[in-house]
Amino acid sequence: MKTVTLTVNGQSEKLTLAPHRTLLDILREDLGLTGAKRGCEAGECGACTVILNGKPVNSCLVLAVELDGAEVLTVEGLGGPEGLDPLQQAFVDNFALQCGYCTPGMILMGKALLAQNPRPSEAEVKEFISGNLCRCTGYENIVKAIMAVAAGGERHG
Ligand code: FES
Ligand code: FES
Repeated sequence: MKTVTLTVNGQSEKLTLAPHRTLLDILREDLGLTGAKRGCEAGECGACTVILNGKPVNSCLVLAVELDGAEVLTVEGLGGPEGLDPLQQAFVDNFALQCGYCTPGMILMGKALLAQNPRPSEAEVKEFISGNLCRCTGYENIVKAIMAVAAGGERHG
């Protein structure tokens, strides 16, 4: 067992962990943050995507004991008392979710992309989210939602 202290959505968390547990495990089972979804658990689907130290990662592939001092953002950390994050709102406005299983991962991929490239082309959005699978095949509206925020709403009204 190892004790690690990490920051999750701005809150410091101290956890004593067995070495085999993943970031996805501790988010869902220890911290009650179930936004990151358990899909393939093999790095293939992106349902478990969170932002770790500013970069999107498949949390099913990250061992939690390696995270001492890390900063993690999950979908629960977006938005606030004033309402949804603009990208969450764009997903609602553009009907970019069906069952919703891929949605937290897609939104966090969108956040990560826009942080590094505030005005991506449609091709760049598609390329960036290409590792995240939507089994409902709602890709068109997901790209539309990210593009709506990308251009401050200018390109897609
Ligand atoms: S559950 Fe992590 S990539 Fe599929
Ligand atoms: S909305 Fe169902 S998996 Fe994407």
